[in-house]
Amino acid sequence: MKKKIAIYPGSFDPITFGHLDVLEKASKIFDEVIIAVLKNSSKKSFLPIEDRVMLIKQSVEEKGLTNVKVDSFEGLTVDYAKKTGAIFIIRGLRAVTDFEYELQMSQTNSALAPEIGTMFLTTRPKYNFISSSTVKEISTFKGDISKFVPKSVVEYLQRL
Ligand code: PNS
Repeated sequence: MKKKIAIYPGSFDPITFGHLDVLEKASKIFDEVIIAVLKNSSKKSFLPIEDRVMLIKQSVEEKGLTNVKVDSFEGLTVDYAKKTGAIFIIRGLRAVTDFEYELQMSQTNSALAPEIGTMFLTTRPKYNFISSSTVKEISTFKGDISKFVPKSVVEYLQRL
């Protein structure tokens, strides 16, 4: 039978426990999940793309997720999804406030590539409030981020 592949695209700037929770759930549903870091986002990134990818690889390894691949991409998410043979795009939802933007994005992607679906997964409540932006802010002011991000990210950010 054909392998069921999903991509989990995002900025992951940096990866958090919330992202990893979504990734773990997706890895139980699909044969393979490719976590795909967007290279040239209009958003100015905090960490260089190579470091974001490296931190995801370390975190995935720490978690022991064996059917997850890590990659980066440029351009449209649906084009990347088609290139990899993915049938679904995974996105995490933390709160209702995420929903409007996510719904619009999924409908745009569906208009561009109707054969690719979007699957929304929610994070466990204890990870609901975590965001890469708050992690960045706390880390900039040397606060404790160990409750929000994996060990490799804590160590990396401490070295900055
Ligand atoms: O982690 P983020 O920043 O919320 O992820 C957003 C992302 C990368 C999934 C989104 O910006 C995206 O898909 N960008 C690629 C360009 C694209 O495909 N745009 C059309 C969909 S609106």
